[in-house]
Amino acid sequence: MRMYDLIMKKRNGFSLSKEEIDEMIQAYTKGEIPDYQMSAMMMAIYFRGMNEEETLALTMAMAHSGEMMDLSAIQGVKVDKHSTGGVGDKTSIALTPMVAACGVKVAKMSGRGLGHTGGTIDKLESFPGFSTGISEEHFFRQVNEIGVSIMGQTLDLAPADKKLYALRDVTATVDNMSLIASSIMSKKLASGADAIVLDVKTGSGAFMKQEEDAFALAKEMVRIGNGAGRKTYALITDMDQPLGNAVGNILEVKEAIDTLRGEGPEDFTELCFALGSKMLLAAGKAENDSEARKLLQEAVASGRALDKLKEFVHAQGGDENYVSHPEQFPVAKYIYQVSSPEEGYIAGITCDEIGICSLILGGGRETKDSEIDLSVGLVLEQKKGAYVKKGDLLATFHANDEQKLQCAVERFLKAYTFSKEPVEKEKLIKGMI
Ligand code: URA
Repeated sequence: MRMYDLIMKKRNGFSLSKEEIDEMIQAYTKGEIPDYQMSAMMMAIYFRGMNEEETLALTMAMAHSGEMMDLSAIQGVKVDKHSTGGVGDKTSIALTPMVAACGVKVAKMSGRGLGHTGGTIDKLESFPGFSTGISEEHFFRQVNEIGVSIMGQTLDLAPADKKLYALRDVTATVDNMSLIASSIMSKKLASGADAIVLDVKTGSGAFMKQEEDAFALAKEMVRIGNGAGRKTYALITDMDQPLGNAVGNILEVKEAIDTLRGEGPEDFTELCFALGSKMLLAAGKAENDSEARKLLQEAVASGRALDKLKEFVHAQGGDENYVSHPEQFPVAKYIYQVSSPEEGYIAGITCDEIGICSLILGGGRETKDSEIDLSVGLVLEQKKGAYVKKGDLLATFHANDEQKLQCAVERFLKAYTFSKEPVEKEKLIKGMI
């Protein structure tokens, strides 16, 4: 294989064979292809696209470029869930115990937050003592015993994607459907679950701003997952405003606990039931959505889902008493209420700006090594479509630094737009594949 020939082939609009893609990804992972040639290939793919066979071949080649997690030590069907990321997305914390309480095994690897989006590991570390740095043996044993575990990534999963993603990031080649789908799915396939439920976000706080792009990405990823022999479902869901009300680590954990008590925000609860239903279906625990939803509702109403969160926190070294007594979590020094500057219907909330407010307060990471402040963030009191009078409460801010608070509030007020005319509430679930 000459990389020059492959670049020219793709540049001229021809398809690459599975063998060519395999060889190219193996050589690139080993450092035998320089970044400048791979950049040219990425740009050729960006303009010429990839067909279904090429996209599947690229995904499989990247998935196999490093270690593949072997979950066979865990009995039964293992289901994974992946969100393309957003603001206020605390789904894994409520959903995984909910699903495990229905008898479905969840063996999940999660990451930390970067930029304006939060990460599950940071949120879980709000429980004093909680560790995601557990051994594989601990992970397998815990899933077998209590049905749920979340660990940080230790294995070198899909290293080709890691290299390629960094390259795409600096060569304006991220936003190509085949490249995104293969990047996400290579990591999911390498993580080893039997079934995958994808939550593809769309809107101002999401990677895919346009709904039709989110649908196309979801379709592509489902096709790849099923093609690789994993039962795969996708929901396309709204991220044009934060999910639920809380944004910020401890605040989001408290909201997840409220949701497991049956007292969570309507949109967040609905998303957990919708995704959870697909996880139950994928694991063969229910015949249809309504049966699955009943099982999940019952797990919450009976308190079994909340008990499962306690077990989960305890099993990973955390203090489970915080689940029963969330008032023990540290509270920020300044609690500041932001009132509406106008009267009218809330027409829009620029979602990523709300994530940036939490970042400014210290709740997120600017770089991989930044320290985060778990207690800061904000709780939205009014969301899109609501009618507010001037002076009505819009949000409550939790801060430990006055200057940061002022800066975040200024930014927050610019993220809201108002209308004199009624505004339709955004549909949470835009579609399913
Ligand atoms: N997330 C990924 O993991 N890969 C992409 O290409 C885009 C988003």
